[in-house]
This record gives sequence, C-alpha cells and structure tokens, in this order.
Amino acid sequence: MSVNGKKLSNLGDLSRTHTCGEFRPEHAGTKVVVMGWVNRRRDLGPLTFIDLRDRAGMVQVVVDSERSPEAHSLAKSLRPEFVVAVEGKIVMRDADKMNPQMPTGKVEVIATRIRLLSDAKTPPFEIGSEKANEDLRLKYRYLDLRSPRMQRNLRVRHEVAFAARKYLDRQRFLEIETPMLIRSTPEGARDYVVPSRVTPGSFYALPQSPQIFKQLLMVGGYDRYFQIVRCFRDEDLRADRQPEFTQIDIEMSFVGPNDVFALIEGLMAEVCKPQGVEAAGPFPRMTYAEATRRYGSDKPDTRFGMELADVSSLFADSDFKVYADIVAGGGQVKAIAAKGAGEWSRKQLDEMTALSRTYGAGGMAWIKSSPAGDVTSSLLKALGEDRVRALLSEAGGASGDLVLVVAGSASVVAAALGALRLEAGRQLGLVDPKKFNFLWVTEFPMFERDERANRWSAMHHPFTSPMDEDVERLESDPGSVRAKAYDLVLNGMELGGGSIRIHRRDVQRMAFELLGFSEDEARKRFGFFLDALEFGTPPHGGIALGLDRLVMILAGEQSIRDVIAFPKTTSASDLMAESPGPIAQEQLDELRIVQRSLETTTDPDD
Ligand code: AMO
Repeated sequence: MSVNGKKLSNLGDLSRTHTCGEFRPEHAGTKVVVMGWVNRRRDLGPLTFIDLRDRAGMVQVVVDSERSPEAHSLAKSLRPEFVVAVEGKIVMRDADKMNPQMPTGKVEVIATRIRLLSDAKTPPFEIGSEKANEDLRLKYRYLDLRSPRMQRNLRVRHEVAFAARKYLDRQRFLEIETPMLIRSTPEGARDYVVPSRVTPGSFYALPQSPQIFKQLLMVGGYDRYFQIVRCFRDEDLRADRQPEFTQIDIEMSFVGPNDVFALIEGLMAEVCKPQGVEAAGPFPRMTYAEATRRYGSDKPDTRFGMELADVSSLFADSDFKVYADIVAGGGQVKAIAAKGAGEWSRKQLDEMTALSRTYGAGGMAWIKSSPAGDVTSSLLKALGEDRVRALLSEAGGASGDLVLVVAGSASVVAAALGALRLEAGRQLGLVDPKKFNFLWVTEFPMFERDERANRWSAMHHPFTSPMDEDVERLESDPGSVRAKAYDLVLNGMELGGGSIRIHRRDVQRMAFELLGFSEDEARKRFGFFLDALEFGTPPHGGIALGLDRLVMILAGEQSIRDVIAFPKTTSASDLMAESPGPIAQEQLDELRIVQRSLETTTDPDD
C-alpha cells in the first residue's frame, strides 16, 4: 500500500524481539527486530544512521547502501516521528565511534530490512525540547508524552503508586473503591456536579475526597482501608493544584495520631528510596502555633532559617504611633533578617513591598546595614538611628544584613512575612534542592473565622475531632479549640492532611451546630452519616496524601501538570480534547436543563 508516495507496511508476522534502550555489549552478534520512532536521521555517503526511539530508550541503526540497498533507499526517506520496524544484527561500534552519552552507545544495529509502519506529519514542536511552549505541549500531549522527560515522570509516578500499594498491602490494608457519583462531601471547595437524567432536577457531585465513605468503611468494620483515588475540586488552580487529582487515601480504626504518623513515615521511606530520596522517620513535629510563629506559615520550608522575630515589645509604649497603635490593638510587629542582603537595591525592596501588600500588609519597612555597619532605613526618620540599630539586632540582623519589618494583625503579619521569607530565601539561594525536609504540623485550630459569612468554618473538615483537653471550650471559646488534625509538609509544600475523627454522635452534633448547620440542615446533608455513627462506630482516623505533589517533588518538577499524563490548564481546560465544551441540545433536553444566556449569568459569590 502506498500513502503519499510512501510504502506503508503492516506488522505481518514480524515480532519485536527487544526494546531500543536495552542493548549492551553482551548483545553483540544477536539478530534482533526493533520497532519505534525515528528520532533523527543522518546521511553519510553510502551509510544512513537512524536514532530509533521507544519508551525504553534509543539505539543507533546503521543502513548500508551496498549491503542492504532496499533498506537504504527506504531509510533515506525517513523523517522524525515515522514509525519503523528494523530487522538486523547488533554489532560493537569501533572504539572511536562509541557514544558515552547513550546507554546503548557502545553498540549499534546493522539493518538488513526496514519496514515503514507509519509516517508522520512534521511535529509542531521538537519532541523533548525544553523550549517547547506549554500550551502547544498540552494541545499535542500525545507527542509530548514521547519525550524522555514525560516518560521518566510517568515511570516515577507508576513506581511511587506501585510501591505504596505493596507497602499498604503488607501492612494489611485493603484497597476498596468508593463511588464517584455521590452527594457532596464537604472539603471546602466547590463541587463538580453531574445532572441526573433519571431524576430530573437532581444532581450528583463528584467526590472532593472519599472522606465520608472511608469513615463509613470504618463503621463497616474494614479497619484498614486505602485507595489511590481520583478527587475533583472546582477551585482556583495553581502549579500544585489540578481540578482532578489523585490521593493516596488512608483510614484506620482504633488509632491515634502517632499510629498514623508511624504508618506514613514507613510509607514515605518505602516510596522515596527507589527514587534516591532518603525519608527516614520519625519526621520532626511542630505545632501549628509554633509553625506560624516561627515561619509565618502552616507549611514551613525548614530547609533554611530566617525565622520571624517578634519585635512588638520594642513598640508597645513607643512614640512611633503607627506601630504602637497596632500593638495596642492586639496586633504584632515582626521582622526577618536576610543575611548578606544589606546591599539590595531600591527596586528589589519595592518588589518585596509589593509582595507584602498582596498578603494584605499595609506596607513593609526595611533596614539595610552595609558591610561596614552603616545603616539606612525606611524607619530612620521616625525612630532615629539608635532605635533602628536596636531593631536590627532584635531581628537577628548584623552588619551586611537586610531586615524586613511588617506590622498588622497576627494573620496578616504571618502571611506577609512568611511570603517575604520564602522570596528572600529563594533570591539568596538558601534553598538546597537536594534536601528533603519532611515535617508533621500538628494541633491545627479546629475552626477558622469566616468573616465574610460571619461564622465559624472547619479548618480541616467538619468530622475532625477536637483535642480531648479542649473539648470543654467548644461552646465557650471555639476559636481556641485545637483539633486532632495534622499535615505532612515536605519542603514547604502540603503533601497530605488528615485527622482523628469524631466518632461520637453528641460531639459531631455539637460541631455541626458550631459550624452553623441546624439539626435539620445537618440531617439533610449528612443524615445517613449521622445515623451510621449511632450503630457502633470505632474511634478512627486517617490521612490523604497528594500523589501528584509527591511525584512532582520526587521527579524534580515545578508543576504537577508535568507528572500527569493528561492534565488541565490553570483555567481547568483540556487543550487537546477541548473540554469543557458545549453539549448537544438533545442531551440538555433529556436532562431537562434550560440554559440561561451567558450574559445574564452571575457569579453566586458576587
Ligand atoms: P485535604 O483536602 O487536605 O484532605 O487533601 C489532602 C491532600 O490532597 C492534595 N490536594 C491536591 N492536590 C492537587 N490538586 C488539588 N486541587 C488538591 N487538593 C488537595 C494535597 C492535600 O494535602 N479527606 C481529607 C483527608 C483526611 O482527612 O483524611 C482531605 O482530602 O496534597
């Protein structure tokens, strides 16, 4: 058969004997059949060289016009991404022709016959090129998937998931599937909803997590459950967030936080080791209060110091009204000292100020100390040199350093200074990419105040148990109640989160009440779950780890899109399949959905 002047073949009885990447000197003399994609072709007089590529790697094929004239004339017409089958023999390369960059570089295939299985259009970008535009890579994802980088990343992903399954199986966990078409589970994001055709006007939600179902499995007696499971959240996307992502979801009965920590430390050691990362437990632990106080974050990157210093006492009764008023009003003044940044430019400081403002800070003050010890500061006029020097040293700064100061409410100061710390650490090269710092952050507050709605909301989720010693303050002082909730943090990223759950109906009812769910509302949303709690619920708890984030870190990538075969963009669309897209009127009619025109649609939040 001839297509575009090229003779295409079927496989016929030809059978692949080896993959391209596996050839080593011990294969010399072996007759082989290899198949794959043409990576590159070079013509050198009577010889044509083809780099043939498959998932396992690449091998050089040599076609000699004298020995195999037919194969040679076909070889000369090959272009990148054509698919071919090559019959031939493995030979050692001459010593001076060996390529130490290629794992197969000591040998080559001398081709006797070549079949063209498929030709290819010129790809819209060079496969594997670092310069390829990401949108183009996503539009032609199947081409991008051929790149060594994506093939390595998806292999790491497979290895991590496989190692997790093996470990959890050895620990006597059962992998149990939970439904994808469910009633809403509250994890704090918006649901993706699916209309029901059979019950018009009714909708399923796709799970934000299997939270309720895994707890019901505990009621059902499956005391050690796990699932590598897809979750769906309609939330604002970033480099570490996708609308659909994968969790290693775990739940256990008759356990406290220490049991969960020990299990996960074992799991991390096992999945990280094959990737060359040491994750030896026990991991350090830090309470939420300490993490926010010292690092301004509940997911601190502990690979470098630059901790936040509380300098409020310097201003408590001072005549510097702006800060004194903030402190008197219950706020804070905190600072970080960036070692060796005393010579930063005005532009750098302006950028840091702008960054602090994005976290709600009214502004940022600074003190620069030259290596000789001269100080300049945005506070010099207001405070005078002596007090500026006192502030410099109280913040941990010395000659040659830069001190950044933020004042405001505790939460704004933590958020702004936490972000400044990360940015300064990055610019000063303080982050060692070879370090893997795991950290448990514990004792999260049970509730956070939703000022807009003027009510409490659950910091983790509404099934999280309060700490025993704080239960009595549930009604009198909910803001001070700590939860048996914990996050696993790796290098400043939240890798997982979980908690010990409420297993008592009375405490669950109280938690719902505080969250503003009336008995009626709670019944409507979670009645089946509240009922279940009344039929013998074991104490239980668990955790979910973000598989995509874990793989991203282990593969050394900056975005989870690079460890997902078919990811979505930050606007939640699939550029290749062009989803989301319109559906046919017929389908809408069947579902009894009438669309309002887009112009009249308003955001429910506006
Ligand atoms: P949580 O909401 O903390 O807990 O989620 C657990 C982990 O899932 C990952 N993750 C995400 N990864 C990529 N894209 C997203 N949009 C995204 N959202 C979350 C994070 C996060 O730490 N049911 C509880 C767990 C429990 O209590 O057992 C839950 O889902 O790595």
